[in-house]
Amino acid sequence: MKNVRLGVIGFGNMGTVHVKSVAEGKVPGMELGAICDIAPARCEAARQEYPQVPVFGEAEELYRSGLCDAVIIATGVRADRKTAESFYGITPETYMIGDCEKPRKIQEATMEGYTVAATL
Ligand SMILES: NC(=O)c1ccc[n+]([C@@H]2O[C@H](COP(=O)([O-])OP(=O)(O)OC[C@H]3O[C@@H](n4cnc5c(N)ncnc54)[C@H](O)[C@@H]3O)[C@@H](O)[C@H]2O)c1
Repeated sequence: MKNVRLGVIGFGNMGTVHVKSVAEGKVPGMELGAICDIAPARCEAARQEYPQVPVFGEAEELYRSGLCDAVIIATGVRADRKTAESFYGITPETYMIGDCEKPRKIQEATMEGYTVAATL
């Protein structure tokens, strides 16, 4: 079976953790598709650390690239549906969990992730 190509939007505290886990092979069946951050310094950091991975400055560029099968949005601690909503009509399925909806405890967000994953 082909690996799932992961896109990570937001290369901050959590985005770097997700990218590192996949880059180090800790997630079986998954590889890095692309990274995105609106901050040029964070894009540069991603390019330095992962020169083999395409890096974009806007989420739309990432999902229009066709390089990613699944995307994690890790863009900050405020509840923000805007980036996820911009996927409507472009991606076949969009599920919002965690802080996309409203600020969550880690356990709640994890449970939401499991629940969505179980339906796929
Ligand atoms: N930091 C933690 O310990 C922690 C723990 C659990 C969950 N979380 C959750 O992880 C998510 C990310 O938090 P964080 O701490 O990594 O935030 P952060 O502020 O460290 O990083 C966010 C990154 O996203 C980038 N960004 C902002 N808007 C963007 C956009 N529209 N497109 C592309 N890039 C954009 C910023 O430039 C920044 O580099 C939040 O939902 C947070 O609640 C964080």
